[in-house]
Amino acid sequence: MSEIKPYRDSDAGKKEQIASMFNSIAPKYDLLNHTLSFGIDHSWRKKAIRLIAGRKPALLLDVATGTGDFAIAALRSGAQKIIGIDISTEMIAVGKEKIRKLELQERIELKQGDSESIDFPADHFDCATVAFGVRNFENLGKGLSELHRVLKPGGSLCVLEFSKPRNPVVKWAYGFYSRYILPRLGRMVSGDKAAYTYLPESVEGFPDGKDFIAFMSGAGFVEIKEYRLTFGVATIYIGIKANADVKS
Ligand SMILES: C[S@@+](CC[C@H](N)C(=O)[O-])C[C@H]1O[C@@H](n2cnc3c(N)ncnc32)[C@H](O)[C@@H]1O
Repeated sequence: MSEIKPYRDSDAGKKEQIASMFNSIAPKYDLLNHTLSFGIDHSWRKKAIRLIAGRKPALLLDVATGTGDFAIAALRSGAQKIIGIDISTEMIAVGKEKIRKLELQERIELKQGDSESIDFPADHFDCATVAFGVRNFENLGKGLSELHRVLKPGGSLCVLEFSKPRNPVVKWAYGFYSRYILPRLGRMVSGDKAAYTYLPESVEGFPDGKDFIAFMSGAGFVEIKEYRLTFGVATIYIGIKANADVKS
């Protein structure tokens, strides 16, 4: 599952390949992201933030923040401070510039950081979010355990990730689009041959639904809920870090 890597002819590990792929596509990432998803990604992010807003998080960590779109959307949750981390320096650089232009530096801070070894103490954040990031982790279990560690007891994790549609017609149409159209458009605009071939392959090989919930549960999350979006093309998963006194 986690061994699907972007560059088949490279011996580098998944994390190194992912960082270099996102460094290479960073300048075109936003344009491609919104165009290839027909802008639907905005509504998915908004829905995810609406689902966590009720818990009134004050301090929020956005992991695999990339160019910061989910961190910016997370302002609507009412969070006072948002910290975004990502392994790609170029994605972070694009994100920082966006945040500077929006004059949001006081509320949103982006820095380089790895989901599998998060540079914050335990029990620190009220909420953690990851949009389209978990699929790229080299070690999914380790990443989710780290997210669990840095959350306060009672804190919530919100994951937004691509999933596999189940309806046969949607499945066929989505498969055709993601195998034949998306890689060609992605290659034309980004200039990276592998990135948009890796995307559908990594979605295909990644656990969704109850399989992903099993990973969250294995990392210690409880009360996990899933919300399938747009015929199951993407799914939001929300889980809670149990309060110490209700842990079994
Ligand atoms: C598809 S982008 C998503 C960016 C952003 N969250 C969004 O919604 O547009 C995936 C991001 O995950 C980051 N990433 C992958 N593995 C990571 C890890 N182990 N730790 C932190 N970031 C990681 C990549 O560098 C990339 O910026």
